[in-house]
Amino acid sequence: MKNTGNIWITGASSGIGKAVAIEFAKIGCNVFISARRANELERLKDEAGKKGENIYAFPCNVASSANVDQTLKKISSEFEIDCLVNNAGITSFKSAEENSVNEINDIINVNLLGSIYSIKAVLPKFVKNNSGTIINILSFAVKKTYTNSSAYTASKMGLLGYSNSLREEVRKHNIRVINIIPGATETAMWSKEVRSEKGERMMSPDSLAHIIVSAYLQKDNLVTEEIVLRPVTGDLT
Ligand SMILES: NC(=O)c1ccc[n+]([C@@H]2O[C@H](COP(=O)([O-])OP(=O)(O)OC[C@H]3O[C@@H](n4cnc5c(N)ncnc54)[C@H](OP(=O)(O)O)[C@@H]3O)[C@@H](O)[C@H]2O)c1
Repeated sequence: MKNTGNIWITGASSGIGKAVAIEFAKIGCNVFISARRANELERLKDEAGKKGENIYAFPCNVASSANVDQTLKKISSEFEIDCLVNNAGITSFKSAEENSVNEINDIINVNLLGSIYSIKAVLPKFVKNNSGTIINILSFAVKKTYTNSSAYTASKMGLLGYSNSLREEVRKHNIRVINIIPGATETAMWSKEVRSEKGERMMSPDSLAHIIVSAYLQKDNLVTEEIVLRPVTGDLT
């Protein structure tokens, strides 16, 4: 199969990141998957290998900038990344009052700072190559206000602001910044109870993955800067 790109996806051990990894591998990309659970990454790599697809596992905790840099260094010893998918993310579904400082730190460190560390890691090569794609998985929380999501919303709005500013800086280097803004998607981010009650109304990670890969594949001198994806029947509540 012809190589159609080298893609690094964070948070690819489950949910949306895993589905995006599988979709990129299907079209012939070399896919580098990161997350903390190395066993899940290995499983995904092995399944792809049986189908002749190229998925490589690189465990990484994005909350550590040192770990992010080491991981990209390992990948870059053999491959040059064309596209970063910033997908690793966590939430807590607690009120601002209930959220502990540790929980708030974790959410901001993974969702916001982890994404920024990953962007900082790939950026020098993207600039040097005058080419590259950064895809951020944000959330509909950047468009609509939800309760019990204050730290999560702050992290996603922070990344939206960072990416919008970054996009203006890197246009001259032919670097594409694509923000994906999904509503409720059926993944482990939601509790089993919520998924069994409302899962049918949620979007599937596979459907999202298809659209994310299509945005990457767009040719010519255009970029889809923002994609809002929501269940047809709207929010869960
Ligand atoms: N599900 C939704 O309704 C929804 C809607 C809008 C946006 N999103 C966003 O979609 C993204 C993916 O979430 P999901 O719904 O697919 O949930 P998920 O299945 O829980 O996936 C989250 C992924 O992030 C990884 N992760 C968590 N902490 C990490 C860390 N410190 N370092 C590296 N990886 C880490 C997890 O792997 P490990 O535990 O192995 O590290 C896992 O692979 C998130 O950014 C989320 O905010 C989700």
